Amino acid sequence: MSEAMWGGRFAKSTDEMINEFQASIGFDKRMYHEDIAGSIAHARMLARCGIISEEDAKAIIAGLKGILADIEAGKFDFSVDLEDIHMNIEKRLTEAIGEAGGRLHTARSRNDQVALDTHLYIRRETVAVQKEIENLQQALVETAEKYRDVIMPGYTHLQRAQPILFAHHLLAYFSMLARDFERFGGVYRRSDIMPLGAGALAGTTFPIDRKFVQEALHFDAIYTNSLDAVSDRDYIMEFLSAASILMVHLSRLSEETILWCSREFSFVELDDAHCTGSSMMPQKKNPDVSELVRGKTGRVIGHLMAMLTTVKGLPLAYNKDLQEDKEGIFDAIDTVKFSLAVYAQLIRGMKVREDVMRRAVTEDFSNATDLADYLVKKGMPFRKAHAVAGTAVHECIERGIYLEDLSYADFKHLSPLFEEDVKEAILPETCVKNRNSLGGTSYEQVDLQVKAAKALLQQANETLKDYEARQKILVD
Ligand code: ARG
Repeated sequence: MSEAMWGGRFAKSTDEMINEFQASIGFDKRMYHEDIAGSIAHARMLARCGIISEEDAKAIIAGLKGILADIEAGKFDFSVDLEDIHMNIEKRLTEAIGEAGGRLHTARSRNDQVALDTHLYIRRETVAVQKEIENLQQALVETAEKYRDVIMPGYTHLQRAQPILFAHHLLAYFSMLARDFERFGGVYRRSDIMPLGAGALAGTTFPIDRKFVQEALHFDAIYTNSLDAVSDRDYIMEFLSAASILMVHLSRLSEETILWCSREFSFVELDDAHCTGSSMMPQKKNPDVSELVRGKTGRVIGHLMAMLTTVKGLPLAYNKDLQEDKEGIFDAIDTVKFSLAVYAQLIRGMKVREDVMRRAVTEDFSNATDLADYLVKKGMPFRKAHAVAGTAVHECIERGIYLEDLSYADFKHLSPLFEEDVKEAILPETCVKNRNSLGGTSYEQVDLQVKAAKALLQQANETLKDYEARQKILVD
């Protein structure tokens, strides 16, 4: 007979290489806390429903708490022969408390057990990701306020387009992250559903109380179909897709940071502590953090693709393929949290080269739209004004000057509608100030955005406190 916990029907032990191939303990051990919390709730429920004795439940709970303490003290030997975290813990429990340990798995399968652990784990980590998103949002708002008046060129096609506030640019990322925060809120809600009690796939013959377990682990809802409960990996796919979108946002910010600190742009300077040098070229200061975040984006998107592909052709209910959900999601969690944390630090340490940005909006034609808008306000149809401003730009390029260098006579020659006030109208500050439409780049609108951003952060804080309160002390 095989020595395995399921060894009864086997005449031989598992081949050593196969054993190693199928084991998940190497990575699922990080769900030890969730596994123990779930088992404690399960044991309490079994006793309450008269399925095991109160005495056995007490011994099981005490034994599990001892195992938790051992794991946290680094005194637990995880064994590949015991396949996964579930059987590692159960085996140790039985060694510690004897026969009562063998009653814990009554009315339960590893299929609903692993689903429970993963739900608890993702639910907790979703909140951790949201906290890091909040931290980066905070860094963006602080920096936007610090450089509130700094003007830079806004780009389309990576060509200078119109002057904008640097703060406005940063706050665009704030808004993107606000949607990411919200998306992870959705992931939280879909992880907040209790699968235990589904058994292997069909439910159980024992008179269990799933509501009791739901309440003990502070779940918002219960899976109402046992097949779905053990087969569902939607919440993992959702986490990975929210994580991928978030990383795509960070990757765009990274790309811009890399451009901005190139010699060609020189818009910002990163803190020395956030960059590295070259082993060969003494002058180099490389924006590694941004490059790595941009690079790691591919890795997180890869995990999403892997998960979608794994689940795509699977029949119901549990299949071992589903064990492949873990390494990707764990790596995505680590990658996303780390990337967010380092980026917040990078933004906080970044110095903005106001003078260079200023030069980029004056020694250029990003005020050409404002010249056209000026004429429109004097009564000219926009299409015609566009042509006049275009001619003005053309003339300047021929003469090697900029719009602000044109004389009053030059302007009058272009159109009699031009008055003395045209010079004022095409200053970068005026261009910015006048874009006062809702959500525009004007000082007033940006101040409103900062105010709204702070209110949103306050509200996000409340949500997180609420989430945290609901899942704290799962082992009590
Ligand atoms: N380690 C397994 C996993 O992560 C646990 C569930 C195993 N279930 C089974 N029927 N072999 O998916």
